[in-house]
Amino acid sequence: MGNAEQRRNRIVALAVALACITAFGGGMPVLVPAPRHMKTDEGEFHDKAADADGIAVQETHDASLPPESYRLSVTTSSVSIASADAAGAFYARQTIRQLATCGKTGTDGTADIAIPCVEIEDSPAYRWRGVHLDEVRHFFGKENVMRILDLMAYHKLNVFHWHLTDDEGWRLEIPKYPELTRIGAKRPNSWKRGGKPHKVNGRSVIDRNTEAYGPYFYTADDVREILAYAAARYITVVPEIELPGHAGAAVTAYPQLACKPEGVRERIWDAGWGNTIDVFCAGNDETIRFLEGVLDCVCELFPSKVIHIGGDECPRTRWKECPKCQARMKAEGLNDANDLQAWITRHFADYLEKKGRRIMGWDEILSGDVPRSAIGMSWRTSQKNGTGDKLTSGAEGAQRGHDMVMTPHLICYYDYSQDLPDDPFQYIGGHVPLEKAYSFDPCDGVADDARAHVLGGQCNNWSEFTWNEHDLAWKMWPRTCAMAEALWTAPAPRDFKDFLKRMEVHRKRLVSMGVNCAPLR
Ligand code: ACM
Ligand code: ZN
Repeated sequence: MGNAEQRRNRIVALAVALACITAFGGGMPVLVPAPRHMKTDEGEFHDKAADADGIAVQETHDASLPPESYRLSVTTSSVSIASADAAGAFYARQTIRQLATCGKTGTDGTADIAIPCVEIEDSPAYRWRGVHLDEVRHFFGKENVMRILDLMAYHKLNVFHWHLTDDEGWRLEIPKYPELTRIGAKRPNSWKRGGKPHKVNGRSVIDRNTEAYGPYFYTADDVREILAYAAARYITVVPEIELPGHAGAAVTAYPQLACKPEGVRERIWDAGWGNTIDVFCAGNDETIRFLEGVLDCVCELFPSKVIHIGGDECPRTRWKECPKCQARMKAEGLNDANDLQAWITRHFADYLEKKGRRIMGWDEILSGDVPRSAIGMSWRTSQKNGTGDKLTSGAEGAQRGHDMVMTPHLICYYDYSQDLPDDPFQYIGGHVPLEKAYSFDPCDGVADDARAHVLGGQCNNWSEFTWNEHDLAWKMWPRTCAMAEALWTAPAPRDFKDFLKRMEVHRKRLVSMGVNCAPLR
C-alpha cells in the first residue's frame, strides 16, 4: 500500500469513526423527525451493502396500519418493515437511511453498514407536510428543485407547493399562450445580490445587475420530469397560478387581460419587488376564458387534486374604475370589490371541480361567499398584515368548515431572519429563529371540533432576497427540520432541548450531504 493510499484510508477511518459516534448520538439513535414511538435494544444489524438503500429488508403488508404509517424492527439478524401502503414503506426506508449513516469499511475492505437494534411505530400527525418555493422572484431550476425533493423525502415531507407565477415573472410554459413565457419569463435587469436601497440625489435607488434576468421558465417536459421525481418520493406537487392579483407578468404579456391595457407597462418592471395594481380584469370574459385555458393546461400536466389559485393581496384600484368590472358587479348583484373577488373564486372553484380538482387559495379567498370545498392557506396572523379586508384566520376558516393548511408568516416564513450572530445572508425582514420555527403548532387556537379540518402546515420560501441555491439552503435548513417535526411527530409542545441535541448530529448529516445548512444558533 502506498503512502497516499495509507493516508487516505486513515482519513476514511477517522471520518467513519466520527460518523459512528455522531450517528448514534452518544446512545439513542438520532431521527429527524422523531418517530412517535421508539424502543432501543442492545446490538446492531450489519450488512455488506454499499449503502443504506441496498440493505435487504423484509417487507410485509399490514392493512390495519393507518396511511403513511409503518413499523420497523431491527434485530441483530434482520430488518423488517410493515405498512399498509407504499408511502409507509418508503418512510420506513427513510428512517433506515438515517439510522444507517454509520457506514464503515471492514478490515477485509468490504462495506459494513450498521443499524442499531430498534423497534419503531411511526405515523404522521398531519396529512399536509409542505414546503413552498417561490421560483418567480428568483429562479432555482430543475436540479435544485430535485435536490429539495430529495431532502423533503428524507424528512418525510410530502407536499411541494410550487409558486410559479407572480408580478415579476411567469415560469410555466403554456403552449396556447406563448407570450406568457416569451415576455413574462424575463426582467430587464435585477436586484444585485447583497445590494441595499440607498439615496441618490434624494431618490431611493437599488444596486442592480444590468443584464436581463431570464428568460427562466419550465417546459412541459421539465415539469413532467420533476413530477415523476416527486412521485417516486411520495411528494405531491401543488402548482400555484396567481389570480386575480399578483398578475403583473401575465398582463404585461397580454395587456388586454387587464382593466386598463394602456396603463400596463411594456416590460415587467425593473429590479425591485412589489404588487402591481394592474391585475386581471374580473369583468372581461376574455380574461376569464384565458385563465380557464391556463388552468386546462395546468390540469393536463399536474395530477394534483388540489390546484392553488393564489388570491392574496389583490389591489382593487383598477376594478373600482373599470366599466367591465362594474358591469359584472351589477349583473351578478355584487356589492363591492370583495364580492367580485369571491365571484372569481367561485367561478374557478366550479371550473376546477368539473375537472375533478379542488381549489386552494391564500386566506383572502375565504373573505366572501365561497364553497366549503375551497381549501384555505392561512398566512396572515393579524389584521395589520393583510390587505385591509376582513381577515379570516386559519382557526376561523376551519371553524367555518374549510379544510385549512396553516402557514402563519410569523412562524413559517423562512425568508425571515434566523437571528443568527453575524449572519451574512440577507432576509426580507421578520424573525423566525429555530426555536420559534420549532414551536409551530398548526392547531394552535383551533377549536377541538374544527381540528379535523386542519390538514397540516408548511414553510414558505419566498425568494426576493434569496438569489441562489446557497442562499436558499441556508434559509431552509435547519428550520425545515423543525417544520418536519412539527408536522410529523406528536403535537406541540415539543421538547426543543431534545430537538437541539438531535440536531447537533443531524446537522452534520446534512452538511455531509453538501447542504449549506445554517448553524443551530
Ligand atoms: C403572501 O405572503 N402574500 C401569501
Ligand atoms: Zn376590469
